[in-house]
Amino acid sequence: MAVIPVDVAGRPYEVRVGAGLLAEIVPNCQGRLRKRDVPIVTDANVHGAWGEVVETALRSHGHEPHWRILPPGEQTKAWSQLASTVDWLLALGVERGDHILALGGGVIGDLTGFAASIVKRGCHFIQLPTSLLAQVDSSVGGKTAINTAAGKNLVGAFHQPSLVLADLTVLDTLPDRELRAGYAEVVKYGLIGDADFFAWCEANGSALLSGSSAMREYAVAHSVGHKARIVAEDERETTGTRALLNLGHTFGHALEAQNGYSATLLHGEAVAIGMVLAARYSARCGLMPNASADRIARHFEDVGMPAGVAQLGLECDGQALVDHMLHDKKMDAGTLPFVLMKGIGEAYIDKDVSLGEVATFLDEELRR
Ligand code: GLY
Repeated sequence: MAVIPVDVAGRPYEVRVGAGLLAEIVPNCQGRLRKRDVPIVTDANVHGAWGEVVETALRSHGHEPHWRILPPGEQTKAWSQLASTVDWLLALGVERGDHILALGGGVIGDLTGFAASIVKRGCHFIQLPTSLLAQVDSSVGGKTAINTAAGKNLVGAFHQPSLVLADLTVLDTLPDRELRAGYAEVVKYGLIGDADFFAWCEANGSALLSGSSAMREYAVAHSVGHKARIVAEDERETTGTRALLNLGHTFGHALEAQNGYSATLLHGEAVAIGMVLAARYSARCGLMPNASADRIARHFEDVGMPAGVAQLGLECDGQALVDHMLHDKKMDAGTLPFVLMKGIGEAYIDKDVSLGEVATFLDEELRR
C-alpha cells in the first residue's frame, strides 16, 4: 500500500492507495469510526458492485451501516439531493466529530463532501473513491460542489476529507470506457509538470488500462502525490498553482455543455480532447512545437480515447463553444484564464488569451 500525505495547513490527511482497502475498511479508517452507526452515501451502481463488501466489513467489526443510495449520474449533484441528504444525516443524529463515508465516484464525493461541510457547520467525511477519475483527482483536495441551473459546480465549499482510501480493486469492475475517461486525468499530471511521467504513460498506459495492477498502483500513487503537492501549496486556488489542474477543462467543459452533458461524451473524454485543444492552441500561438501537440493526441488515440473535437460531430461553430466558456466560474473581470503549455510538462496560466482568437481556432478544429 502507498500512503501519500496531503499537508494542508491545519488539516493534514492521508491518501492510502492499495488493493483490498474496502474489505478492511474498519482498520483502514484507524479509529475514525467511533460509533456503532456509520452513515454511508453511495449510488445504486456502486452499491450493487461494492455494497456487500463494505456492509460485511463494517458488520464484522460491530458497526451498523446506514446507507443512502442515490441515483447514479451527474443529475444527482443537485440542490434536491443535497437537501435530502442533509436531512437524512440530521435524522441519523450525525455529530460534528462523526465521519460520513462517501463511497462512489466524483458525483458522490462532491455531494457528500458538500453535505458534510454544512451539517452542523462542518463534520468529517472519508472519501472512498470508486472511479479512476475520483481516485486521482476529485477525492483529493477538498473541492466539493453541486450543479445548478446556471452551470456545473457553481455552488460548493472547500472541505477537506479526513482520509481517502483508494482501493485499486474497484477498478477491476469499472466499465472500460469509464476507466479510459479517468485515465485522461492521470495523463494530465504528466502534461502539467512532469514530462517523464507523460513518457511513462506513453510506455505503460495500455498495460494499465488492460489490467496491470502494478501499473495502476504506480499511476494512482504518482498522480495523487502530484496533486497532494499542488493542494498543499495552493489549497484554495489563490496563487495559480492549483489552477494548473484545470488543464483541458475550459475547452472540455464547453464541449460537455454543447453536448448537453449527455453520456455520449464523458467528462474525462471531454478533458482529453480539451487537453489536445489546449496543446494545439499553444502550438498555434508558437509556444510549443506542433509535434508535441501531435504527440499528445497520438497517445490518447493509442489508448482508444477521442483526441479531436471534429470527431464529436457537434453542430456548432467556435463562437458557440466560447459562449459556454463565458459561464465558467474562473471568469475574472471579463477575462478567462487558460492553462496553456510551453511544452509537455510545462503548463502555465495565461490571462491574456483572446476569446475571439479561441473562437477562430475552434472553427478550424471543428473542421479538422
Ligand atoms: N479537480 C481540480 C482540483 O481539484 O483543483
